[in-house]
Amino acid sequence: MSERREPIGVIGTGYVGLVTAAGFAHLGSDVFCIDIDADKIARLQAGEIPIYEPGLAEMVEANRDRLHFSTQIDDALVNARLLFVAVGTPPTYSGDADLSAVRAVVGAIPALAPRSKQQRHALVMKSTVPAGTGASIQRVLAEQGKAGLGYVSCPEFLKEGSAVKDFLHPDRVVVGDEMSWAGDAVVELYAPLGAPLVRTDIASAEMVKLASNAFLATKISFINEIANVCEETGADVIEVARGMGLDERIGQKFLQAGIGFGGSCLVGDETVLVRLRGRTTLMTFERLWHRLLDDGHQDDDGVIEPAALEVLSWIPGGAEPQFMPVMCVTRRDYDGEIVELRTKTGRRIRCTPDHPW
Ligand SMILES: NC(=O)c1ccc[n+]([C@@H]2O[C@H](COP(=O)([O-])OP(=O)(O)OC[C@H]3O[C@@H](n4cnc5c(N)ncnc54)[C@H](O)[C@@H]3O)[C@@H](O)[C@H]2O)c1
Repeated sequence: MSERREPIGVIGTGYVGLVTAAGFAHLGSDVFCIDIDADKIARLQAGEIPIYEPGLAEMVEANRDRLHFSTQIDDALVNARLLFVAVGTPPTYSGDADLSAVRAVVGAIPALAPRSKQQRHALVMKSTVPAGTGASIQRVLAEQGKAGLGYVSCPEFLKEGSAVKDFLHPDRVVVGDEMSWAGDAVVELYAPLGAPLVRTDIASAEMVKLASNAFLATKISFINEIANVCEETGADVIEVARGMGLDERIGQKFLQAGIGFGGSCLVGDETVLVRLRGRTTLMTFERLWHRLLDDGHQDDDGVIEPAALEVLSWIPGGAEPQFMPVMCVTRRDYDGEIVELRTKTGRRIRCTPDHPW
């Protein structure tokens, strides 16, 4: 594809931002990518791709002349009307989304944008935000004298590991706005993909994303609960899931009994799927440790050699996870650095930097 199309800005060049930028550049747009991480921008300017996604490096390279990287939001404001927002919204300890990066973006847009193009700018929210965020951002914009700035909710559904494919072949494109020029322009940008379009209001677009996430989580939790029942009844949950998933109303996807992760150096509040004396439960390492202590297994060196404890584990190169026996469990006091990793399944975990990976 090489037809010249509407230029856009992308604020935040993480997984979603970089894939969105490369995807729209591939479809013919000039894309002005902005990030506050100067190091990341320098690497991108030097042609380095900070994340691995199949096909992403090739797509960036093929569209290099249309991709522009900067730490200055003005570079996007001067060159584009639509500013796709793809900054992180991680959960806080209370479980709410941390919207500080979204607020920072809203605050960084000047009341009178460069070249006085203010009336023709719009934020296009790709970040996953709680229901009602669009309405509250519109209120904040009005308070800050930026009511002319448009707002579109355009939630992202890509999966890490297949993000480029998901951009090019989305199951659907959801565009929520007040039937403005901005929503029309976003629809036009996605049109070449030929995906089913859900054009709706902002609140409904936000809910499509949140309800989809909740439904997928429910499917996983449901099959994990069924796995527990299977343990009790002697049934094989893999066969049960297959038998259920062949019903097209249910479907195979997101119906595999869940895996946590294994290894040492994980903090106590992380969880793992364990099978103890034939019963499968998802529990924190902290709870597992106390459960084993209650069973009186600890030796003089503080090592527990549990009887009949298994955790669901991947054998390197293996196609399926399996319950593997645990030889010993140890615990240590630690007050050094903790790093956050993202697993292949997209989960973020906290562990010590010497954790093997
Ligand atoms: N990763 C996924 O699979 C996925 C899928 C669907 C939706 N989402 C959602 O998309 C959003 C982005 O996720 P991600 O995984 O790409 O995050 P990420 O952490 O990989 O990237 C976020 C980027 O935003 C940058 N940033 C933070 N504050 C900024 C600011 N004020 N101005 C400019 N840049 C700023 C960061 O430096 C970082 O590069 C989140 O809301 C996430 O929930 C993610």
